[in-house]
Amino acid sequence: MKAIRLHEPIGNEPVGIEGLVYEDAPDPTPALGDVLVKVHAAGITPTELNWPIWADRAGHKRDAIIPAQEFSGVVTALGFGTAGLAVGDEVYGLIMAYWDGAAAEYIAIEARDVAPKPTTLDWVHAATLPQAGLTSWQALFDHGHLAAGQTVLIHGAGGAVGSVAVQLARSAGAHVIGTGRSNVEARVLELGAERFVDLERERWEDAAGQVDLVYDIIGGDILARSLALVKPGGTLVTVMGPPPATRQDIRTMFFIRQPSSAQLVELARLVDTGQLRPPEIGAVYPLSEARRAFTAQANREVTGKVILQP
Ligand SMILES: NC(=O)c1ccc[n+]([C@@H]2O[C@H](COP(=O)([O-])OP(=O)(O)OC[C@H]3O[C@@H](n4cnc5c(N)ncnc54)[C@H](OP(=O)(O)O)[C@@H]3O)[C@@H](O)[C@H]2O)c1
Repeated sequence: MKAIRLHEPIGNEPVGIEGLVYEDAPDPTPALGDVLVKVHAAGITPTELNWPIWADRAGHKRDAIIPAQEFSGVVTALGFGTAGLAVGDEVYGLIMAYWDGAAAEYIAIEARDVAPKPTTLDWVHAATLPQAGLTSWQALFDHGHLAAGQTVLIHGAGGAVGSVAVQLARSAGAHVIGTGRSNVEARVLELGAERFVDLERERWEDAAGQVDLVYDIIGGDILARSLALVKPGGTLVTVMGPPPATRQDIRTMFFIRQPSSAQLVELARLVDTGQLRPPEIGAVYPLSEARRAFTAQANREVTGKVILQP
């Protein structure tokens, strides 16, 4: 098959975008419990080439890596004993970074990590949802234990992950305060936030106030300053890296999103019943132009999700 592959780093330096090659790669074989999916669209993330991906789960070194962890496509074969999905099913899913990803014509993935794609979305839009949806679902509900009537502050609410979080929190009956730069204010309010805080204004903490849950999708100084915004007994969840400090009277948590078929099913249901909009598309590139796609995303030439299509 054709695939985009990142080759072994020279020394221990990440090779980054320059190391991406469009080339022939071995066809993946679905192992026990897997499905083989013909990829129709694959989503890329700006930072993914810098993640710790040069070893597999068992610690074995990987020589070449196929990026893009979220995708939509059609099941073309089943591994030994795979149940619950059939050849011809239209699916979407998320694979962990230590497996080969979806910047390829085919991907082999555990059946429990995919689900039927939302029927109301095309391939491209369906491929924008797994990472943003799973990350925000797990942040708000699995780790943040967000409940109706509570107030959540979502940093980076205008981005892919944040825009889904705003909608999920709102439909769970929470009061939502979204943050970001002023250019996303209208969109964040339209998605369901009750208030928007411009992080480029001075002393934005005063405008944000005290909340039950901070969900941080920006990191750095914004994350550090947000510890003070959590009410005693509340929680701070971040997806950007371990918090620089903590407080004895709150919970703090950094996590990496996990695949989940059950949560993908629920996200698809919310989309198909009109309760959730997928992240906005920034640009769609043919698979062969992945290097250009990663470059445009890294240089912020496009706003919104960047999708590759084999
Ligand atoms: N741990 C995990 O499992 C996990 C999962 C998914 C994503 N992530 C990470 O989450 C991050 C966001 O992903 P995404 O796909 O949502 O990206 P995105 O679409 O670019 O969204 C990020 C949003 O945050 C805003 N922002 C960033 N820095 C800001 C600042 N200093 N002040 C105000 N606004 C700021 C951005 O605004 P501008 O565009 O104007 O800068 C943008 O609206 C990425 O770094 C990604 O690697 C982690």
